Amino acid sequence: MQKKTYWFSASATDFYLAWKIGQLSKLTERQTTVLITDENVYNAHTPKFKGWNTIILKPGEEFKVQETVDAVIEQLIGVEADRKTTLVGIGGGVITDITGYVASVYMRGLRFGFVPTSLLALVDASIGGKNGIDVGVYKNMVGTIRQPSFLLHDMLFLDTLPQQEWENGFAEIIKHACIKDAAMFRYLEESSFRSFQGKRKAIAELVRRNAALKAKTVQADEFEKGERRLLNFGHTLGHALENQYELLHGQAVAIGMTYASHISERLTGFSKTEKVTSLLEQYGLPTYASFDKEKVFEVLKMDKKREKQDMNYVLLEKIGKATVRSIPLLELENIISEF
Ligand SMILES: NC(=O)c1ccc[n+]([C@@H]2O[C@H](COP(=O)([O-])OP(=O)(O)OC[C@H]3O[C@@H](n4cnc5c(N)ncnc54)[C@H](O)[C@@H]3O)[C@@H](O)[C@H]2O)c1
Repeated sequence: MQKKTYWFSASATDFYLAWKIGQLSKLTERQTTVLITDENVYNAHTPKFKGWNTIILKPGEEFKVQETVDAVIEQLIGVEADRKTTLVGIGGGVITDITGYVASVYMRGLRFGFVPTSLLALVDASIGGKNGIDVGVYKNMVGTIRQPSFLLHDMLFLDTLPQQEWENGFAEIIKHACIKDAAMFRYLEESSFRSFQGKRKAIAELVRRNAALKAKTVQADEFEKGERRLLNFGHTLGHALENQYELLHGQAVAIGMTYASHISERLTGFSKTEKVTSLLEQYGLPTYASFDKEKVFEVLKMDKKREKQDMNYVLLEKIGKATVRSIPLLELENIISEF
C-alpha cells in the first residue's frame, strides 16, 4: 500500500497505489458520495458497489457526449447532490473524463476522485485533470482542466479487462516510452503481454512507472504550454481518425504514432520508425492504415494544437526524446497525402 501526493497549480492529487477498492470508504464517506461507472464495469464487479449510491452509464466512446452529462446531472439533482457531494468515477477513460467534467460544472465544482479500471485510464486518462466530452467527430472538444482529489489503484479490476483493452492501454505505455523513457522502451521490447497479464506485481509496477511519468509531466506544465504537449505524440492524426473510423483510442494513437514517426524521419532525422512499429505490433496494435486523407485532414485541422495556419506536431528525435515542431498546415497536408 503506497500513497504519493502530486501537487499541481491549484490543488493536489493523492495517488493510492496498490490499494483495494474495499478501502474507498477511507477516502470518501458513503453517505455523501455518488459513484459513476458503466455497465461493463458494474456487471463484472457488482458486489464492490454494494452500499454505494451509483449511477451506471452505457459503455463506450459514443456516450462521451453532452447528452450523457445532462442525464448524469439530472440524476445528481434527483439524489439531491450538493456541494458537499464527492463524485467518484470507477471505470475507463470515458467514465473518468465524464466524471471529471460533471464534477467541474455541477454547482460550479464538486470534489471528485477516480478508480481507473482500464489500463489506459490507469496510466493516462485518469491523470492530469483534463476532462470533457466529444462533439460529433471532434474529440474532447469541450472540457475543463481540474485535478481529481484522489486516485485509487486496484489491479483486481484488470482481471476482467478484455484483451483489446489491454492492447489499447499499451498504446499509451509505448507512447510514454517513445517520448521519455528509452529504458522502458527496451524493457517493453524484451517483454510481452504474458509478462504482465495475471502478474499483479509486474503490472502494478509498470502502471506506477507510467502514472509517475504522466503526473510529473503534467506537474511541469499543467496548462500545456510546453512539456505536456509531448504527451500528444500520435494524437493529432489519432484523434482525427478515432471517431471517423470508430477505432479504439489506443488503436488510433498507434496509427498516429506510426505516421508521426515517419514525419519525424523527414523533419528531425529520426531513424527508428521500424523499431516503433515493431513494438506496436508486438502488443497487438495497428500501424499502417488506409484512410480518406482529405476527410481526415479536414478534422485534423480543427485540432486544439493548431495555431492559425500552423500545427504543433509532436515528433521524435530519438527513442525516448520527443520535440514539438510547428508545421505549416499546407506542408503537413502534403506530407500526409504522400503516405
Ligand atoms: N483525460 C485525459 O487526459 C485522457 C487521456 C487519454 C485518454 N482519454 C480518454 O479516455 C478514453 C479511452 O479510455 P478507455 O480506453 O479506458 O475507454 P473506456 O472507458 O471506453 O473503456 C474501455 C472499455 O473497457 C471497459 N472496461 C473498463 N474497465 C474494465 C474492467 N476492469 N473490466 C471489464 N471491462 C472494463 C469499458 O466498459 C469499455 O467498454 C477516450 O475517451 C480518451 O479520449 C483521456
